[in-house]
This record gives sequence, C-alpha cells and structure tokens, in this order.
Amino acid sequence: MKRVLIIGSGISGLTCAIETAKNGDNAILVSPYPSERSQSVLAAGGINAVLPNCDAEDSVALHIKETINIGCKIAGNKTVTALCKDAPKIIKWLESIGVVFTRDSNGNVARRAFGGLSRKRTIYAGASTGKQIVTALVQEARKWECKGNIYRMLGLVFYSALICDGVCYGALFHSEKSKKLVPVYADAVVFATGGQNRIFGKTTGSVLCDGYAAGKLFTQGAKLKNLEFIQYHPTTIETPHKRMLITEGARGDGGRLYYMDKGQRVYFMEEKYGKTGNLMSRDIVSKCVYDAPSQVFLDISFLGKKKIKENLSEVYDLCNEYLGLDVTKESIPISPSVHFFMGGLAVDIRHRTNIKNMYAVGECASIYHGANRLGGNSLLAAINSGKVAAMSISEEVRSENTPDFSGYIKDQCDIIKRYLESKSTFSAVYIQNSISQIMNKNLGILRTGENLIKGIESIDYYLSECNKIKFDSENSTYQGYSLSAMLTLARAILSCAENRKETRGAHIRSDYPQTLDIYEKCSIISYNSGKYDITYESEDEI
Ligand code: FUM
Repeated sequence: MKRVLIIGSGISGLTCAIETAKNGDNAILVSPYPSERSQSVLAAGGINAVLPNCDAEDSVALHIKETINIGCKIAGNKTVTALCKDAPKIIKWLESIGVVFTRDSNGNVARRAFGGLSRKRTIYAGASTGKQIVTALVQEARKWECKGNIYRMLGLVFYSALICDGVCYGALFHSEKSKKLVPVYADAVVFATGGQNRIFGKTTGSVLCDGYAAGKLFTQGAKLKNLEFIQYHPTTIETPHKRMLITEGARGDGGRLYYMDKGQRVYFMEEKYGKTGNLMSRDIVSKCVYDAPSQVFLDISFLGKKKIKENLSEVYDLCNEYLGLDVTKESIPISPSVHFFMGGLAVDIRHRTNIKNMYAVGECASIYHGANRLGGNSLLAAINSGKVAAMSISEEVRSENTPDFSGYIKDQCDIIKRYLESKSTFSAVYIQNSISQIMNKNLGILRTGENLIKGIESIDYYLSECNKIKFDSENSTYQGYSLSAMLTLARAILSCAENRKETRGAHIRSDYPQTLDIYEKCSIISYNSGKYDITYESEDEI
C-alpha cells in the first residue's frame, strides 16, 4: 500500500485523494484551510461534456477539436483526446456521488453555451457548479476518511519539497500555529495548489492561490510550462478585496455586451462577430472589451426575473451585494480581469513532473489548455487530472528508502529564523503589493517587449532586496519567506512572455501581432542557479 501526499484540497486534490483510496493506496491530504475555502468553490458556470442528449452534430470529436483550436494548436492531441473522452464518465460519476446538475423541462441534464463552444455542451448547477462539486467530493472523501484511507491534515502551509538526487520523498510544511517546520514523507507527492492569483493581486481567483508552490518548486528544479498564457475573463466586477466573476453562463443564457455611444447602445460583439459574438472565446471578448471606447455593460435584465433567479441567482446576489444593483432591471458594468493560468508545473500525459515521484494536478499543472482555455474545461481538467495522477501513482510508483533530510530541515529552520531577525528598507507586504503592480502594468491583456523588459528589471530589483526583508508583524512568517519564490515565479512569467515573440491565444503582443509556426510549441522554463532557460517543446513529446 502506497503513501500518497496530496497538497491542496480543492476539486483536483479531493478527486486525487478519493481515487488514491479507491485504488487501495493511502492519501494524506494536506491544506492550510478546509476544502470549503478552496478556489474551486468559486468556479461558477459549468463543466463541459458531450452527453447522449447533446445538440445536433455535437460529438466528442468536436469537443476535442474546439479545445485544440481555442488552445491555438499547442495543447497536445493525446492529452486533449483523453480529457474529452472521459468527460461523459466524469459527469456520471459526479451525479453518482450526489452532484445535482440543473435539469431541463424534460428532466434531462440541462446544457448551456459557453465561450468558444459551437454547441451547448456546458453542464451546470445554477451558477455555483464548483460549490456543488466540492460539497459532493467532501462527502465522498469522508467515507474514505472513516475507513482510514484518507487522512487529512489542516493548518499546514507548503514550504518546500523534500528532494534528493532528482527524487521527491515528501514535503516540508510550515505551521503558522507552532511556527515550526513539519516534514511529511511519502512514496509520491501530488501538488494541487491552484493558480498564481496572488501574483496579480485582485483577480477572480482566491488570493490563497498565490503561486508560491510553483515558484518554490521551480527553484528546486521543477520545470514550468506555458507561463505566458494567462486568461482574462471578460466579465468581472470590482469589489473591495477581489474581482468577482460574472459567469459566462450569463452570456450563455443570452446576456448581451454593449457600450454607450451618443445615447445609443452599441452591441459591439454582435456587430463584429454576429449572433454568437457575445460568446466568442475569452481572449477575443476580453480584448474587445479592453478596446471599447467607454465603459462596457452586460445586460441580462430581458431574461426576466424567473430565469435569472433559477439559473443565475449568484449573479443576482453578487451584483445586489457589491454594486447595489438589480440585474433584473439594470445592466452590469463589467471589465476583464485575470481569471485562469494555462501555465504551471510542466507535466506529461500521466501528470508526472520532471522530478521522480512528484505529480501535479488541477490549475497548478499545465497540460490541457495550450494558449487559451475553453470555458467549462477547467472543472473537467481538475477532476480528470486527479483521476489520472492517482492511477499513474498506483501503476508506477515503487516505495524507496527515505534519505536523511535532518540537515536540510535544520538549515531551513535557520533560514526562517534569520528572516525573522533581519531588517530591510521594504516590508514584506510592500514588496508583495509591488509584485502585483508590476505584473498588471507590464503583463496585461496587451503586451510589448519594452514593458516586459521593464517588468523583469523591476522584479530583479526586488529579488535583490527580498532576502533582507523586514517583517511586518510576528505573524507574517509566510509573507516573508514566500516572497523570493513568488518573485522568481513572476520573473519566469515575464521572461516567457518576453521570449515568445508572436501573438497566440491569450498572449497578445502589439509589437509581434502575427502567429508564427516556429512558436507552435509549449514553452518550458527551467531555473539553474539564478539563470532562466527557455526551450520550446511539442506537448505530445513531453
Ligand atoms: O464564467 C465562468 O463561469 C467561468 C467558468 C470557467 O472558467 O470555466
């Protein structure tokens, strides 16, 4: 029986833990907070699958084709095929564990259109699909917890992987409560730590997903893939602490985008792209909203109160709570915001990283989406990746003797102590906020080489300062020690964006507007003693 350490307990981590238990292995599921506080609960609009009651001429082959085309041909054929083929089975499984998807008047699972889809293929549970899936997975995981096959550890924050000679043997966690480093050893380690939201400050995602794990692992030898591809969601609203998502389901159900010109509504997406203009892929809609001459609004009022309350009640509540606005009567002022990271830890079709016995799943892994993601494919990828990783581990991992890490652990304790005692010009919070300012200013929807280089220079400056950081308070150990890894990750993202001298999917370069065949590959970045090396590889060969 293998011991599998899973770090992160959102949808991909929970799925991986359940599948690990089902395979007869033991899962240790570690996270700072309960699953109910994971980023996954924010996923709103739905999950793609071609079911028997699908639209005319829809097929798994079409789902595969659209996923690859939206990803601008750099997502691999083999991985996307496996993902889309498994989608109907995944929906069936989710229903079997208690997810209640919205039904149509015939009692069939209802489907809505989503960005970039030519057919209605997105299955949903109102506008809280992620929350419903998390609830069911938590219940399912509890059954295995009772049997002793899943063991949960809460309140621990990932610090570093325990790696020796290219093999991963576990991970070190920081307990904010005891202020101590806690090692957890395992035969395989799965990262399910989510996207890199905190690097950009206010996004639609959770700030608890900050990219630290990816940045730290990068400095420990893990390769990262496709970092330059960051998805902006076109319809988000401002709130005090984050951007809130107005689900694409609102446009899937008929919502229309417009701006005002001389007292008249201009339905610019429909004017440019016809009837389905509001549901073009997210890169296209976001760029058009960004280019609009004045504030863009989303109108769903004409759908009527009944339909809005049935299908989009979360949109109704959000706008009411944060904007004091009644969407059954008024339009919603929206703008694009960072929403999803196509890039992350480089994994192969079995979800293996380049470090033996280390795997990655969910948004922290880069594999299915290429240069841009099809709306509704992220929940699908999260579940599929959890299943694939658990299966790979069950089939291929062999228990090995754990080397002695006591010297390494002692050194890390000393490093943390030194941080707590040191002083610098800047506080940890100041640098953290500076990272997001630099990223938003220099790596937005529209990029230029000049800005990207400026961004790299600014990050380099803070990298040179962050080892002599001043702590803001006794409680902010994490804020301090996480900075160097997050700055390194920010530097890697900017470097990949600067190096890709073309426009592809979510990576739009105004100085290189063409899409070039020589770049029809994934970028792979590795870190060697302060040097960032970028190569390009085809997904199917990774
Ligand atoms: O708009 C949305 O509900 C987002 C869904 C997704 O990112 O797939």
